[in-house]
Amino acid sequence: MHVQYVKKSSEDKDAIEYVLTDHLRLSGMYWGLTSLDLLGRLDVVDADEICDFVQRCWVPDVGGYAPCVHHDAHVLYTLSAVQILALFDRMELIDRDAIASFLNSLQRESDGAIMGDEWGEVDTRFAYCALSISTLIDRPRCIDRGKVVEWIDKCKNFDGGYGSDPGGESHAGQVFTCVGGLALCDAVDRIDHFFLGWWLAERQVKAGGLNGRPEKLPDVCYSWWVLSSLCIMGKMHWIDQKALARFILGCQDDKKGGIADRPDDEPDVYHTFFGLAALSLMGFPGIKPIDPVFALPTHVCERIGVMRTAADGTVVGRKENPTSTKGESAEP
Ligand code: FPP
Ligand code: ZN
Repeated sequence: MHVQYVKKSSEDKDAIEYVLTDHLRLSGMYWGLTSLDLLGRLDVVDADEICDFVQRCWVPDVGGYAPCVHHDAHVLYTLSAVQILALFDRMELIDRDAIASFLNSLQRESDGAIMGDEWGEVDTRFAYCALSISTLIDRPRCIDRGKVVEWIDKCKNFDGGYGSDPGGESHAGQVFTCVGGLALCDAVDRIDHFFLGWWLAERQVKAGGLNGRPEKLPDVCYSWWVLSSLCIMGKMHWIDQKALARFILGCQDDKKGGIADRPDDEPDVYHTFFGLAALSLMGFPGIKPIDPVFALPTHVCERIGVMRTAADGTVVGRKENPTSTKGESAEP
C-alpha cells in the first residue's frame, strides 16, 4: 500500500498538495523514490523520465540544482538531485566540477559556515548538504572541511545538542545535520557523546514516538532525525526501539497507504519516507537497510563507492574499487 501511495502522489499532478509543493519538488521526489527503493519497488517509476526532469532543474550558470524548473539553485536541492541520480545509478549526468565550484563559493571565508545559496543564509542543514554532496561526487576538498567542523562545533549547546547556527536552540533535525556532518569529516570526537546521547534518548515520549525538542508532541519524522543520530553514535539501544516501531506502525494509513506524523493524521510522502527509514535502521523485515549518514539505501552507497568503515561505525570514506565507476574521476 505504501508503494501505491507514493506512486499515486507523484502521478496526481493536479492535486492541490502537488501544485503547492513545487518549491521543494526534488526533495519530495527523493523522499518518495528512496521509500520505493527501501521497499524494493523503484521499478514502478520511469527512471528516464525522472532523470530527465532532474536535469531540467540544473542551473548551469550557478552550478547547482533548483527544486523545480524555473526556480533558483540551492544546496538543499542540489543534494536531492545527486541523491536521486545516485538511486538510479545515473551519476554520469552530474557535472561534478561545476557543483564542486558552487559548493566552494558557498563557504564563508570568515568562519567556514556554508550558505544555502548566493543570498547568504547559513544553517547547519546547508553544512551537512555540502559535506554530503562533496563526498557523494568525490570532491571532498572543494570545501575546507576543517573550517566547517569548527563552525559546527560553535553550534553545540550546553545540553550537548545542536541548533541551526551558533546560539540556536537544540533541535533534533539540526542534531542530525551536525552529527552526520561531523561523521562525514571523521570528527565525531567533537560530539559530547554522553550529554547528546542523553538528550536524544529523552526525546522518546510515553506513546513510544520521538519528539524534536522538549515538550513537543511525538512526530514520525523525528524517528529518523533522532534514531539516525543515535545510530551514528552507536547508541540506538538507548531508546525503546519496540515502542518506537509500534508508534510508527500506528501512524500508517490502513486505507490508502502512507504514513502520517501522528496516528489518525493525513499521511504524506515526507513522513512515509522518514517512518520507513527509521524502521529500516531498526532492521524491520521487508525494508532494505539505509545508511544513517547519507540517508540513502546502503546498496546505493556501496555502488557509488562511499562507505562507513567498521572501526567505530562513523568514518566515511571511499572504496578503492567501487562497482560502478560511471562518470567518476579522481580528484587531483
Ligand atoms: C526538521 O524540520 C528537520 C530538520 C531541521 C533537518 C533537515 C535536514 C536537511 C534538510 C538535510 C538533508 C536531509 C536528508 C535526510 C538528506 P521541520 O521544519 O519539520 O521542524 P519542526 O518540526 O520544528 O517544524
Ligand atoms: Zn514531522
